Formats: sequence, structure tokens, C-alpha cells
Amino acid sequence: MGFVGASAFRGAPVRAQRAPAVCRARPAAASRSGPVMQDAEYEVPQTRRLSDALKEADVEARKEAVAAEKRRAAREAARDSRQRKIDFMTNIPDTTSVGTVDEYMFKEGVREILLKLDTDLVGLKPVKQRVREIAALLIVDKMRNKLGLETAVPSLHMSLTGSPGTGKTTVAMRMGQILQRMGYSRSGHLIVATRDDLVGQYVGHTAPKTKEMIKKAMGGCLLVDEAYYLYNASNDRDYGQEAVEILLNVMENNKEDLVVLLAGYEDKMNNFYNSIPGMNSRIGNHIAFPDYEADELVDIAKVMTKELQYEMTEECLPIFKQYIEKRMEMPYFSNARTVRNAVDRARMRAAIRLFNSAMGREGSGMVSRKDLMSITPEDVVTAQELANRGSTAIVE
Ligand SMILES: Nc1ncnc2c1ncn2[C@@H]1O[C@H](COP(=O)(O)OP(=O)(O)OP(=O)(O)O)[C@@H](O)[C@H]1O
Ligand SMILES: [Mg+2]
Repeated sequence: MGFVGASAFRGAPVRAQRAPAVCRARPAAASRSGPVMQDAEYEVPQTRRLSDALKEADVEARKEAVAAEKRRAAREAARDSRQRKIDFMTNIPDTTSVGTVDEYMFKEGVREILLKLDTDLVGLKPVKQRVREIAALLIVDKMRNKLGLETAVPSLHMSLTGSPGTGKTTVAMRMGQILQRMGYSRSGHLIVATRDDLVGQYVGHTAPKTKEMIKKAMGGCLLVDEAYYLYNASNDRDYGQEAVEILLNVMENNKEDLVVLLAGYEDKMNNFYNSIPGMNSRIGNHIAFPDYEADELVDIAKVMTKELQYEMTEECLPIFKQYIEKRMEMPYFSNARTVRNAVDRARMRAAIRLFNSAMGREGSGMVSRKDLMSITPEDVVTAQELANRGSTAIVE
């Protein structure tokens, strides 16, 4: 008993000594409770919490250690993978082949388009050369990509400058097809827009109009014909400015989704680039379309008639050349477009000639396949006929 009592006695001062510490920790609770008994009750949970806290700290420390280990392992794995890539790249013999250029061109159908460009379009040597260069870059880029080399296609936006009817729109369409076959544009379609399609008449009309056209062209090409009409130097409130700003923005931020082609006469295009800072530098390719020589225009006429399943007879060609030479000196001459008009005119004349001969008094009403396909000297407007109309006459 004495032992118990002594122990109890001995224990009491210990609790008494500890009490102030507890009171310091929780003064409000201590003041609310009775002195000794309350202290004892209070002290037990406090001890438990401390041990829990220690345990918790232990768990936290373990969790942190596991997480740190995971991070370290991830870093190591990334380092290993990078090293493996570097080893692969450095150990790869320089002579490793990814296939032949021909295979790539054939696989993607680019060779077919380039061949068609060569055969369908007469002349245009510098233009064809430039298109071939762009196609070559895209092919090399694909091959580099296959070997894991860095690939970055430069800006594909283009400026096509030249006189009317020199083939700008035609080449732009082919370019769209090449970009699509090579996987640089999703659809390869070409949307042609002029100022009227992009610029509104009233405040607030321009942005939605321009954005609508851009939306239509997304995934393909947007050809802005006579782009300089977008900018009116004499009127700084012109709505065209807004269209230009939207275009500039899209050309920079949506390069992967839209190729913008600007077309027009060279001198006016140069003024346009001078007036709009930032436009020229967004264009990676400037392609100049030269005017055609008379011989080239005759060749174009041959290609056009062949496509239409007609044939200009041998005697017809020199007469046509003289016509073209005269026509080149007159107003509104539009290169290959003028040739197309002349060919259409010759087809009309051939039709009426056939009609008259078959239905005339001597005619049997019968016409042969050859008759239906031939364009003869009678059908072609002569240089003399043109001269008779005066050098400033407006003709087709
Ligand atoms: N080199 C060429 N060979 C054959 N046909 C051609 C050639 N260049 C143009 N053409 C034909 O001439 C016509 C006019 O060409 P296109 O519309 O591409 O010219 P453009 O430069 O865009 O003219 P514009 O400045 O008036 O818009 C088309 O029918 C096209 O097929
Ligand atoms: Mg055009």
C-alpha cells in the first residue's frame, strides 16, 4: 500500500511539474478544467498526438523518399533514351540510305505533277525551276525526317508576280496539289480571293469577310489575286488595312495550316510590299512569271487545241504567229489568256465554215471526224484583219 501510495506520491510531483507546460500549450482548456484530474486527462491525448505526429512524419518522409526515387529513375530513363538516340544518330553510317529520291517522288505522286507541269505548260523555265526546288526541299525534308534528323520547312507563302495570263493561277493550283501530295497541306485546294472577297463596305464588315475566306482556305492555299488592291496608300482609313492585318497574323501563326499566295503585277506588288512592313518577310518564295515570246504563244496555242482535241494545220501556224505578233502590240494583251480567246474564236469560225459548207448548195450535210477537228488558215484572224481595226482597237 505504502508502495502504491509512495508511487502515487512520487508520481504526483511529476504531473505537477508537467502541468504548467500543458497549461502553456493550451491555456484556455486548462483554465476551463479543474486542476489535477483535468490535467491528467488532457495529458494523455497530447502524448498520443505527438506519437501520431511522429508516425505521420515518418510516413511522409517515406512517401517523399519514394517520390524522389521515382523522379530520379525518370530522369535516368530520359537520359538513357536521349543517349540511345544520340548513339543511334552518331553510329548511323553517313551512307545509310532511306530510299531513292525517285521512290519518294513516285510514292507521293509528285513526279506526276512535275511532269504534267512540264508538258502542260509551255516555257516558264524559271517558274518550273522554282517549283522543282520547293518540291525537292519537301522531299529531302521527308527523307531527313525518316532518319530522325531535324526538319523545319521554311515559310511556304509565295508571291507570284507577272503580267496577266502568264499562268500565275494555274501554277498556284499545281503548287497546292504538290503541297497536298507531300502532306504539307491537308486538302491542297486553292481558294482565289480578290479585294471584294476580303474587304467589307462598312465598319465591322471586313474582319468577318476576311476570316470567312481564310476559313474556307484552311488546310489548303489562299491565292489573293491583285493583292495590292487591299492597300490604299491615299486613305489610311481604308478597310483593306484590316484585311491585311488579319492576313499578316494568319501567315505568321497558322503557317502549318494555310499557305498564302499573293499574285499581281510586279511593280504594283513591289509598292505593296514597300507599304506593308512585315509582308515581304513572311513570304519565303518570290516567283516571277516572264512574258511569253511569240513562239511560245504559238506553242501554247498548239497545247490548247490539242487539249480540246483540235488540230491547227501546218499552214495555219505561221498565220497565227503573225496574228499574235500584231496582237502583242495592242491594248489588253494578256499572254496565254489572249491565246485562249484566239483559239476559241478560231473554233467559232471553223464551226461556221463547216456549217456553211455542209448546208450550202453543194454540201451533202455530211461532216467527217477530220473536218470536226481541223482549224484551217481561213479560221484564224489574220494580222491584216487586226490592223484594219486600228492599232488601239479593243479586241479579244
Ligand atoms: N505556259 C502555259 N502553257 C499553256 N497554257 C497556259 C500557260 N500559261 C497560262 N496558260 C493558260 O492561260 C490561261 C490563263 O492562265 P492563268 O489564269 O493561270 O493566268 P494568270 O497569270 O493567273 O492571269 P491573271 O493575272 O489575269 O489572273 C489559262 O487557261 C491557262 O491554262
Ligand atoms: Mg490569275
